[in-house]
Amino acid sequence: MKPTSRIEGFHKLSQNEKIDKIKQMAGLTDDEVKILTAQNVPMDLFDRMIENNIGVMTVPIGVATNFIIDDTSRLVPMAVEESSVVAAASNAAKMTRNHGGFHTSSTGSYMIGQIQVLDLQTPEFASHIILSNKEQLLKLANEQDPVLVKFGGGATDLETRIIGTSVGDMLIVHLIVNALDAMGANAVNTMAEAIAPEIEKLTGGVVRLRILSNLADRRVIRARAVFDAEMLGGEEVVEGIIDAWAFADADPYRAATHNKGIMNAISAIALATANDWRAIEAGAHSYAARNGFYTSLTTYEINEDGNLVGTIEIPLALGTIGGASRIHPTAQINLKIMGVKGAQELASIVASVGLAQNLAALRALATEGIQKGHMKLHARNMATQVGAVGEEIDKVAAKMIKLGKVRADVAEEALKEIRKK
Ligand code: MEV
Repeated sequence: MKPTSRIEGFHKLSQNEKIDKIKQMAGLTDDEVKILTAQNVPMDLFDRMIENNIGVMTVPIGVATNFIIDDTSRLVPMAVEESSVVAAASNAAKMTRNHGGFHTSSTGSYMIGQIQVLDLQTPEFASHIILSNKEQLLKLANEQDPVLVKFGGGATDLETRIIGTSVGDMLIVHLIVNALDAMGANAVNTMAEAIAPEIEKLTGGVVRLRILSNLADRRVIRARAVFDAEMLGGEEVVEGIIDAWAFADADPYRAATHNKGIMNAISAIALATANDWRAIEAGAHSYAARNGFYTSLTTYEINEDGNLVGTIEIPLALGTIGGASRIHPTAQINLKIMGVKGAQELASIVASVGLAQNLAALRALATEGIQKGHMKLHARNMATQVGAVGEEIDKVAAKMIKLGKVRADVAEEALKEIRKK
């Protein structure tokens, strides 16, 4: 294991020094650094990516440090507009290093395509007909994507469900597809559309929807870690974190915010790698409600040494090949910085950072609250908003922090005073 994710004093380096450090550590070329720093973004790429393209929305990328995941050191680029997220994740990861970092496991990369069959007189009977023709339907599905099949993926199973709805019973066919390193939406949707006419022929029913489900509960990643009690601040803090978690576990109002904090990390890495973060969000929240009530995606316990043990279990439909991840140069560079080889490795990183992010939020909430940590960057943003430039920004921010008031009117006043001098 190369100890590369621990960079002493990284946050204290200037922006250029940080870029140089990551360039050197990840082996980036000058051209890659230009792309990463938005100096050389090929606009025609975006014109091909979406319709009516007129520009780009730039979001800052920060690198989370200190992560050891499955015995491998990882630097993790996160694309996020919110202050404190990157620092909080890095800080939480530091508290796992003496205990081996994060360990993960997964169910594999299986996605579900849904086919809705209507107008059936005898849905049970139709279900049996579909299941007895499974091999033929899977073969037809797999003919749609010979490349995926060649690499060991493709449609592996068919399942049926009869659901009662407000317009009557429906037969829902689930096509299970091993998407390997792709997110899988294109492959699954193409396969579902291809087998639909055959399902109509076999059952005499009418097929309407043929679309992937974002409740990717066959593509679940689990991560666990031991967080050092002493580094967390001692027994009382550990107990406070347990109480904070139990609140989320029992109450959907709190669970929504608790899980939002997890998604601060998860969506940030999904965005940095040009993955479909809306799909990930939909999957995470529906999985959190899979037992009929909405609850926390993480758990916490205290082990025999008094340390805090945390776990996360979450569906992650992430791809490293195909789609925007493949063609977006910044996504490719971010994958290079992480040193990621495939979707499973990426998912193990994403789940681990999600757990770290959650732990950091709970620790802050159970102790000093989150505002203190937010204040410094927030104050700098506020200073910029009122027109401070260069050295004025830090001076205006420092003044607001000293006064304990981070507000536009206070910033304006401070800026006036500084300019007078
Ligand atoms: C803010 O973006 C995220 C938190 O609200 C998460 C939480 O409450 O657990 C701090």
